[in-house]
Amino acid sequence: MENYVIEKLLDRKEIEGRIVQVAAQIDQDYRGENPIIAVVLKGGFVFAADLVRDIHTPFNVDFVGASSYKGTKSSGDIKITKDLDNPIGGRHVILVEDIVDTGLTLFNLKKLLEQRNPLSVKIATLLLKDIDRPFDLPVDYYAFKIPDKFVVGFGLDYNEMHRGLPYVGYLKAI
Ligand code: XMP
Ligand code: MG
Repeated sequence: MENYVIEKLLDRKEIEGRIVQVAAQIDQDYRGENPIIAVVLKGGFVFAADLVRDIHTPFNVDFVGASSYKGTKSSGDIKITKDLDNPIGGRHVILVEDIVDTGLTLFNLKKLLEQRNPLSVKIATLLLKDIDRPFDLPVDYYAFKIPDKFVVGFGLDYNEMHRGLPYVGYLKAI
């Protein structure tokens, strides 16, 4: 897309309000469990930064980078571009993502991490696209369901741009 404007979909106040609620849910579910908050790079960093400041039960933070090979059929196709620094065996893990779109990336990443014998792997995402998925991906926590549009801001990029926008908007060609 060459020329576009960004139409606001979710404003900062609205997003911050929901993040507080998601954090409260996580707080309640993981009290005393010391989970690992595993931020999925790059897009998850903005949501995660807000989220962790509203979680009051103790946790650790780690980072993981992954990209899936789209267009291939088998579901094990994932490339870890940056692995977690610490082992997750015997720990609860919460994967923190910017968006679940097709869900392929998280589906594969979750499966891969489950091979390391964590106590559990759950998913927290800022945005969940309201689409049908051909496989079962439980999304345990989400802040907003959004329509099937390409969105940017709050960590999400278009060609590595707009990650710092303090709101979520969709691209509209002009
Ligand atoms: P899925 O769920 O399809 O998503 O495996 C993989 C990654 O693609 C990115 N993605 C988006 N990025 N606007 C963006 O800026 C979008 O609408 C969008 N949909 C998917 C995102 O990084 C996700 O983790
Ligand atoms: Mg992402």
